Amino acid sequence: MKVRASAPGKAILFGEHAVVYGKPAIAVAVDKRARVTIKEGTNDNTEVKIPKLDIDAVINHETGLVTRVNGSQLEPCKFDAGIMEYIQVALSQLGTPLDGLKVEVDLEIPIGAGLGSSAAITVATLAAAARYTQEEMTLETLAHTAHQVELQVQGAASPLDTTVSTKGGFVYFTREKGALKIKPALEMPLVVGYTSQPGNTGALVEGVRQLREAHPTIVNPILEVMEDLTNQARESIIQGEEKEVGELMNINQGLLDALGVNTDELSRLVYRARHAGALGSKLTGAGGGGSIIAYCPGKTREVLEELESIENAFQVGISSQGVTW
Ligand code: PMV
Repeated sequence: MKVRASAPGKAILFGEHAVVYGKPAIAVAVDKRARVTIKEGTNDNTEVKIPKLDIDAVINHETGLVTRVNGSQLEPCKFDAGIMEYIQVALSQLGTPLDGLKVEVDLEIPIGAGLGSSAAITVATLAAAARYTQEEMTLETLAHTAHQVELQVQGAASPLDTTVSTKGGFVYFTREKGALKIKPALEMPLVVGYTSQPGNTGALVEGVRQLREAHPTIVNPILEVMEDLTNQARESIIQGEEKEVGELMNINQGLLDALGVNTDELSRLVYRARHAGALGSKLTGAGGGGSIIAYCPGKTREVLEELESIENAFQVGISSQGVTW
């Protein structure tokens, strides 16, 4: 038997970091996906191939140890080890023990770029594994289980990435209500520019926690303002107010800088995007490296060219399609 599942990456437009403290966030599923194929293997170990990352690894069914097919260790400083852990933990969540598989991941989303690659891989792996074992799983259970996997692997994570990757679309997210779909009354031409440096989400979330603990009377109001900002942004998106959406993104960038998650490389991309005509630009995701997102009505080509001249950049479309399985 051979089964397939896929799930989209995401970009956060407003409210990252604040969402960890129960504040709302606005995010979109993007038209770049992780596609996972699972079929029966040739022995009891599970083989995992991710051609884009040059990963060809084996999970030993007795020890759980992950090695390259040629027997050498995965290098923890590279992304391999991290990504393998999401897959390994995801495969262990099913009611039926899963050994002796061939798993192949086709990845369009850049890794460590703040675009939700780990969530997409986790959601798609879980969905494919559920198909393989013919286990019934609702979208709610899938999103919840994927979040548990992220928590186990990275320590701290809000359910935002895994929810958006499961459900797709343009969403306003709160912990109490989950993902509510937004109907934008404007086009959302978005360009992503990503730095060569990956951000470490767990470490950045921890940094904000420490800053908040050290300066509660300063940091808590910043988080409150982020909440107001995200709520206003939602209204502006629904009302089709382009200029306001851009302005709010720029303010959000300033607040993220105040939380200590900006870098000089991200700042450079943010300002270059604005100079090239973006109405708004900000880091997206955890920061500390990773990506910026630029909102550029009528200026997509100019912004793309400008960012491409310094770093990797691409246009992203919004995907209404969440997980498919
Ligand atoms: O860097 P990403 O794509 O994992 O996004 C992290 C978003 C945070 O709000 C910083 C953390 C979270 O779990 O929501």
